[in-house]
Amino acid sequence: MNDMTPTREQREAKLEGMGCKRKRVEDIRFTQGKGNYVDDLKLPGMLHGDFVRSPHAHARVKSIDDKEALKVPGVLAVITAETLKTVNLAWMPTLAGDVQMVLADGKVLFQNQEVAFVVATDRYAADDGINKVVVEYEPLPPLIDPFKAMDADAPVVREDLAGKMTGAHGPRKHHNHVFEWTIGDKDLTDAAFNKAEVSIKEMISYHRTHPSPLETCQCVCSFDKIRGELSIWGTFQAPHVIRTVVALIAKIPEHKIHVISPDIGGGFGNKVGAYPGYICAAVASIVTGKPVKWVEDRIENLTATSFARDYHMTTEIAATKEGKVTGLRVHVLADHGAFDACADPSKWPAGFFNIVTGSYDFPTAYVGVDGIYTTKAPGGVAYRCSFRVTEAAYCIERAMDILAQKLKMDPAELRLKNFIKAEQFPYHSALGWEYDSGDYHTAMKKMMEAVDYAGLRRQQTAQREAFKRGETREIMGVGVSFFTEIVGAGPSKNCDILGIAMFDSCEIRMHPTGAGIARVGSKSQGQGHETTWAQIIATEIGIPADDIMVEEGNTDTAPYGLGTYGSRSTPVAGAAIAMAARKIKAKAQMIAAYKLEVHEGDLEWDIDGFRVKGLPEKSISMKDLCWAAYNSVPPGMEPGLEAVSYYDPPNMTYPFGAYICVMTIDVDTGVYTIKRFYALDDCGTRINPMIIEGQVHGGLTEAFAIAMGQEIRYDDEGNVVTGSFMDFFMPTAVETPHWETDFTVTPSPHHPIGAKGVGESPNVGGVPAFSNAVNDAFSFLGSTHIQMPHDYWRNWRAAKNLGVFA
Ligand code: CDP
Repeated sequence: MNDMTPTREQREAKLEGMGCKRKRVEDIRFTQGKGNYVDDLKLPGMLHGDFVRSPHAHARVKSIDDKEALKVPGVLAVITAETLKTVNLAWMPTLAGDVQMVLADGKVLFQNQEVAFVVATDRYAADDGINKVVVEYEPLPPLIDPFKAMDADAPVVREDLAGKMTGAHGPRKHHNHVFEWTIGDKDLTDAAFNKAEVSIKEMISYHRTHPSPLETCQCVCSFDKIRGELSIWGTFQAPHVIRTVVALIAKIPEHKIHVISPDIGGGFGNKVGAYPGYICAAVASIVTGKPVKWVEDRIENLTATSFARDYHMTTEIAATKEGKVTGLRVHVLADHGAFDACADPSKWPAGFFNIVTGSYDFPTAYVGVDGIYTTKAPGGVAYRCSFRVTEAAYCIERAMDILAQKLKMDPAELRLKNFIKAEQFPYHSALGWEYDSGDYHTAMKKMMEAVDYAGLRRQQTAQREAFKRGETREIMGVGVSFFTEIVGAGPSKNCDILGIAMFDSCEIRMHPTGAGIARVGSKSQGQGHETTWAQIIATEIGIPADDIMVEEGNTDTAPYGLGTYGSRSTPVAGAAIAMAARKIKAKAQMIAAYKLEVHEGDLEWDIDGFRVKGLPEKSISMKDLCWAAYNSVPPGMEPGLEAVSYYDPPNMTYPFGAYICVMTIDVDTGVYTIKRFYALDDCGTRINPMIIEGQVHGGLTEAFAIAMGQEIRYDDEGNVVTGSFMDFFMPTAVETPHWETDFTVTPSPHHPIGAKGVGESPNVGGVPAFSNAVNDAFSFLGSTHIQMPHDYWRNWRAAKNLGVFA
């Protein structure tokens, strides 16, 4: 080896493969304002569409008069449900097996529901046109309280379902009932409660909230009448699924539909579903023969596109006096709004809520979920969450704290006592999941040591004594949360969307000079896939990540994928990438054997190429093998170096984490101060630690927002009272606490590179840590459970209710 020969470390470093804090390659264009978002797209002759929306939560639509609107300069058309009926598109199927009005058909069922679509030469003209459309409404009683939805005299939300006592998920019990879903062993669980030494029961609500991506939902539709082809650029988290849905409902052959998701400014579940704006823009383009753009504003986004959560969970735990859990029973009242438009895999009407046993070894459990209709916006999306996992984690983590309080045990100690042990993995939960891997005790103990948990409790005791003596008006809370997620939907045996198995895909094509392109079925909305997917390939085939271009989002070029949400990209698409890379490597090995004139089995992999075992100087780099693939392949072998993988995961992955929040609350004002927030995550093999940290920071900020104030709230008439960022809590850098992050690594045994997802974890684990901190602060004053969100006013009210103002 001469001085110029790179060392092994230098060769490794050059790849910037897995484990490297590679800088995000996409940020070069984002930070210079050179991203390419839907609203940047301007096609010749493009028109703009905008919605007339309902001011009422529930009303009969008596008439729609568009005469004056059509006189507004620039307004070309006003589309209503009657127009859509001529092309059989007045209603559309939802992902949950229900149907949803595209435009109000006879009634409106929630405030800001789409009533008519005004098409004009520019957006301002469309807005002027909206103001001139006269809609005559006959108000009907709204239904806002989910607990009254199944009263005998509750208003009928869905008249179209009259007489249909069976829905997509089985029998319906009432005119406002969507479905009942149960899982677990009821008799065994009832028996555990009958002989329980200790039990708790609490109604734990996870309020309605909404993702807030920087960019709202939008699209441009362009129908080419000559070719019969429809091109749709849109903010789609799952572009291929959108293509299939459009083919099914618009009856356009799928190969004549081109769906392109360009750069997307955040998704968080908001951009999974199909919205009326997409259908109306497509119909308007077909009718006018011109491209039509639809871009929603912030108020429309918050009030009319898919909401998240709204789960009301009556939760019971049975336990021994020593604090060993013996049974879990949960009943959920799930408020679905006016249509069941949940974005869950087909067979899972309550998503993966049956992960609700969490990180604990429950011998038995039983869950029942009743979905109901109310006069609120539809949705039920996985807002930085894997299909109701966030609700489940909040439910069990609050309940464990309530049990600890009843047992007068420390909440961390109770968790340690009930954790699934490392040697129990793969672990079969009482509600049917097989957890792949975990080491909860190690993670929890690492967290407790890092924050000096015992010291925090001593400090809290001293603070409480001082409060009782009247020396301070501040109370202190220590919120512990330990979560287990289930991400990577999913194995085809469990998961499909519209009957399509939830696999994911990657195609890699290596060029002669040793550079290549990887096209992937996932679609980044800011998660950095262009950076991390290249890192997987770099490690697998020894080509520097900088030499791999990653492309996603164009259904004409990317292999079919089920999209990016619920942290499924790394577990599913990430695995497909590794498998495609391994196919490339396998072919390269045959070429290497031919070139080095040895048997394939005599070769071994060495960072960036193959070498002959025992003769390290006889080697060939992957870069050279790319060249060889185009000019000197073994006789009988096809030239070229490319591979495709469609990966159907054998199981989901189960990331976990230990979080702690230290908070003080001033009882006289309700003002809280986050003193410390520590988050330990275990997402198996870490591809890019810097991106993981960014994911955790972002997820924790959303968790902070949700737990401490963010809420879609309605008044008694069904008006949304938090429909803009004036009222909907959106933390900026000023309010956001400082995050301390940490990790352990427990690889997934079934994933090709051992990686689990991470994007959702901080939201899943963060919310209970904040809420447990607030509840822990108030617990010594006699409180058991205070509902979220914990804004200043609610904290003050809680203090008042607990009698701290003499
Ligand atoms: O599906 P989504 O991309 O939202 O979530 P994810 O699979 O958790 O990945 C989020 C980002 O974190 C991606 O850029 C991943 O490559 C990265 N990540 C990582 O570097 N290592 C992991 N073990 C998991 C995710």
